[in-house]
Amino acid sequence: MTHSLIQRRRRLVLGAAAAAAASIALPTTLRAQAPIIIKFSHVVAPDTPKGKGAQRFKELVEQRTNGKVKVELYPNSQLYKDKEEMEALQLGSVQMLAPSLAKFGPLGVKEFEVFDLPFIFKDTAAFRAVTDGPVGADLFKKLEPKGIKGLAYWDNGFHIMSANKPMHHVADFKGLKMRIQSSKVLDAQMRALGAIPQVMAFSELYQALQSGVVDGCEGVPSNFYTQKTYEVQKHTTISNHGHLAYAVIVNKKFWDGLPADVRTTLEAALREATTYANAIAETENVQALDKMRASGKTTIYTLTPAETNEWKTALMPVHKEMEARLGKPTIEAVYKAAGFVPAK
Ligand code: LMR
Repeated sequence: MTHSLIQRRRRLVLGAAAAAAASIALPTTLRAQAPIIIKFSHVVAPDTPKGKGAQRFKELVEQRTNGKVKVELYPNSQLYKDKEEMEALQLGSVQMLAPSLAKFGPLGVKEFEVFDLPFIFKDTAAFRAVTDGPVGADLFKKLEPKGIKGLAYWDNGFHIMSANKPMHHVADFKGLKMRIQSSKVLDAQMRALGAIPQVMAFSELYQALQSGVVDGCEGVPSNFYTQKTYEVQKHTTISNHGHLAYAVIVNKKFWDGLPADVRTTLEAALREATTYANAIAETENVQALDKMRASGKTTIYTLTPAETNEWKTALMPVHKEMEARLGKPTIEAVYKAAGFVPAK
């Protein structure tokens, strides 16, 4: 063989090897190394029970998968507002959310609004008895045809009210424009008080209160404090008339497509993050209330038992009124699990 022939052959062999290496190695290596990204969008501040729960989930997942799964958190409606984030989840633009249970109506799963019935939970244990049992599981099943899988319930305590006038008696609500989440039960609740409900995205709340587009709102102290709404609301009433909780949900196709071992790791991480989020909710809300009180910007009033009874008298008819929307069996299942006995 001539020298030039040997050289040409060597070049060919080397070239073929390089081409093979490039064609095999590049895409496969890239694919193997690219982390699985979970975009987790939510509407509240990082320094809230939900924000901290999401952060804990991210840390546990990234640690335990050695970075194979990356959880990107997008708090404060940075990516999407309430309604948009649901659509983004269905489209797969984000993989994970933790919306309030009061926000599933527009998706067509109105039964979640049963959690908004006034005074239905006497305490957190009553709420958990519902979410941890068959009612919680059945509600999650209703999400599946929508392309969504429910993974966990996170608790965030009881609602209080705020406005620029004291709210002790039902009559104090007459004509007040009150911002609500997109729940027909909350709409009925505000109407039963004589107020005018207005559905609005959480991200728009502060501005709307400040500019007077709405007069007041209901919510939990950790949200009032972190969104600074208490700075533009002279009065706050501790009424515990309603309850706020979240469903941690994922895009079902994404979830089902994960490698089984990854899914198991994520499930375990979420169980721990759930325990954590639920454990801190009460303290976080008490602390937020203390900080609101200390600011001197809002007067905090707690309803007397007699006033609570007055509110109950006005609000309990909402349970009956919502029977057609929520379904009697759903309401009764929640009553049973929560140990709620309706007055005859
Ligand atoms: C609200 O809209 O008031 C709440 O659902 C916000 C939240 O996620 O806590």
